[in-house]
Amino acid sequence: MKKKLGLVIDILMYAILLAQMLYVFVGNTAHELLGMGFTACLICHVILKRKAIAGMLKNLGRLRGAHLLQCCVTALLVLCVLALMISSMDVSRLLLPQVRILGSPALHRCLATAVLALAVVHGGLHGYNKTKRKKTAAALILLGCAAALALGLALVPYLNRHYKTVEIDRAQAVSGEKIAFSGGKPLTVYFTRVGNTDFAPEVDAVSGASLMRADGELMGNSQLLADMIADAIGCDAQAITLTGEKYPSAYSATVSVAGQELRDKARPGIAPIEIADYDTIILVYPLWWGTIPMPVASFLESADFAGKTVLLVATQGSSGFGQSARDVAALIPGAKVIEGVSIYCDDIPAARQTIGEWLKEL
Ligand SMILES: Cc1cc2nc3c(=O)[nH]c(=O)nc-3n(C[C@H](O)[C@H](O)[C@H](O)COP(=O)(O)O)c2cc1C
Repeated sequence: MKKKLGLVIDILMYAILLAQMLYVFVGNTAHELLGMGFTACLICHVILKRKAIAGMLKNLGRLRGAHLLQCCVTALLVLCVLALMISSMDVSRLLLPQVRILGSPALHRCLATAVLALAVVHGGLHGYNKTKRKKTAAALILLGCAAALALGLALVPYLNRHYKTVEIDRAQAVSGEKIAFSGGKPLTVYFTRVGNTDFAPEVDAVSGASLMRADGELMGNSQLLADMIADAIGCDAQAITLTGEKYPSAYSATVSVAGQELRDKARPGIAPIEIADYDTIILVYPLWWGTIPMPVASFLESADFAGKTVLLVATQGSSGFGQSARDVAALIPGAKVIEGVSIYCDDIPAARQTIGEWLKEL
């Protein structure tokens, strides 16, 4: 009975972890409640395994081979689970919204990936130590660990990019502390998919991660960031707008068109943006293929940036700034190009504070 209960709890813990990694589909409320469920299961797991844990600790000096490895993996897993719990509180929006230490969802995702991978190895080694078919068990452990890492490091960012649905209250997301900007007269210029895409009439936010609905209207991530900057320092915000053909409605089609444009070094036609009256251009863009979208290159080549400062603000699905800063600097050699902040697409609606802090540091 105790063994069966232990097995059920173990399976439940793996299932909860997996469901939590699929945040895109379960949403924040379920994610946080599942986190509570995971903690409860973990406590039951430790209570049920208390004798085995005590035995392992008692014989620590005598452990060899796979038993010693299991002990090390378990210790690492405990540390990662503790760190994951702290980071959960740190990014919680529902249960503990007031706790903020680093407030890093990226760290939270890395820790979750580490916990899943280590949990697979931990459970696998348990089986390895019991079975006679060591080679099969070892192969399964490696496979499971690789799958967990692929899930956390590749699949989750991919899903976030393609399937994320976000509804926001624009005024609430955009407004916040006002900051005195000391870097001359600033202008925010942004490029975003919304406004530059021929969306099918029935399109909704489900069709692309980069899409969200602000007060029911489609809005791009970069546009929201630009609005936050404009609100913080009271500057103008102008969009880079295509004058010719727009990008296709389907996310994947836009990805291939953008890839071709990058290979062709295309410079799509855009409406003119006057920058002569400004000292600092805050350039907000989504990472496309690890760099700036080609319409942003069109903008950079369309104006005289000599003597100006260009502050870069990127949004992305995992790539940081990619090689965008280098590419921007190469296009406008007369300007001072500074990497500002790069914000993960998932974190944009709650990025007002980060933007404010960055602007204050300047
Ligand atoms: C054509 C295309 C290419 C992309 N390439 C990358 C990439 O290389 N790295 C990355 O982290 N995100 C990439 N993304 C994700 C976007 O950078 C991310 O969803 C961004 O927040 C979208 O901002 P927007 O709503 O202002 O367009 C890409 C998105 C598109 C549409």
